[in-house]
Amino acid sequence: MSTQFSRLRCPACTAELSFSPIGEGPAAARGTLACEACTSDYEVRHGLPNLVYPAAEALPEMDRAFLSQYERVARSYDRTLRLLMLCFGMWEPRARRRALIDPLELSPSDSVLEVGVGTGSNLPLIAARVGPRSTIHAMDLSPGMLAVARAKAARRKLNVEFALANAAHLPYPDSVFDAVLHFGGINTFGDKEGAIAEMVRVAKPGARVVIGDEGLAPGREHTRVGKWVVKHNKLFSNKPPEELFPAAAGTVQVNWTWRGLFYVLRVTIPTDDR
Ligand SMILES: C[S@@+](CC[C@H](N)C(=O)[O-])C[C@H]1O[C@@H](n2cnc3c(N)ncnc32)[C@H](O)[C@@H]1O
Repeated sequence: MSTQFSRLRCPACTAELSFSPIGEGPAAARGTLACEACTSDYEVRHGLPNLVYPAAEALPEMDRAFLSQYERVARSYDRTLRLLMLCFGMWEPRARRRALIDPLELSPSDSVLEVGVGTGSNLPLIAARVGPRSTIHAMDLSPGMLAVARAKAARRKLNVEFALANAAHLPYPDSVFDAVLHFGGINTFGDKEGAIAEMVRVAKPGARVVIGDEGLAPGREHTRVGKWVVKHNKLFSNKPPEELFPAAAGTVQVNWTWRGLFYVLRVTIPTDDR
């Protein structure tokens, strides 16, 4: 199979996929990824594999509702977020580095997956830590958000393999990543527990898994800022989903960041020789 897709697995059954290109041009631009185990086929167009499972129309209601929202805001997302963060006195790249990238404890050559990568704002920060020889894997459910992320990665010449997929059925093998990051979507995932189980499944023993989203630090709900954010965005009333981690993931650390308005959960996957 094309080395470009060699890490991908069938999201329905995690078996290997074989790639058949269609037509002329760069081999991986268009074709089909086929699973011989469960006979599912997945289309590759413009170099982007569509591994969404179950098919878009069979996704949970919550995923479909938020998917259409992200499709609408994809092109303005970066501008809006940067501005919002400035209003709260934060410079976005530095805030992301401290809250999300530092806890991944990356080393050069680490293999990293970002789940729900969105417009790819974490990718340059991850690439700066793992170096140019590592391939970063990144997936999202929204074609619009991924289009922005792919353009950003291409402009910066980042080594990233993108896939359109559902976090609750990740198209990767067991225990392959040194670090897995997800930020900003778990509160609205249709199957939160399934997505967390998948992020843990694809992480190696010893790997760090970091998951964060909106949620107020203890006591923050009684403050003026806490009341204001919840009034304007109900997602801030979410609690960190630490109880949804499988026991095999080990102890879940709960941290609070970005003015106590977001939770960041972190586990280090236990190794056999603990
Ligand atoms: C608020 S954005 C965050 C993007 C990025 N992680 C960041 O830090 O800016 C949430 C992202 O999660 C994606 N998403 C939502 N549901 C998903 C699912 N079930 N599987 C994969 N991605 C999903 C959305 O398409 C969106 O790009």
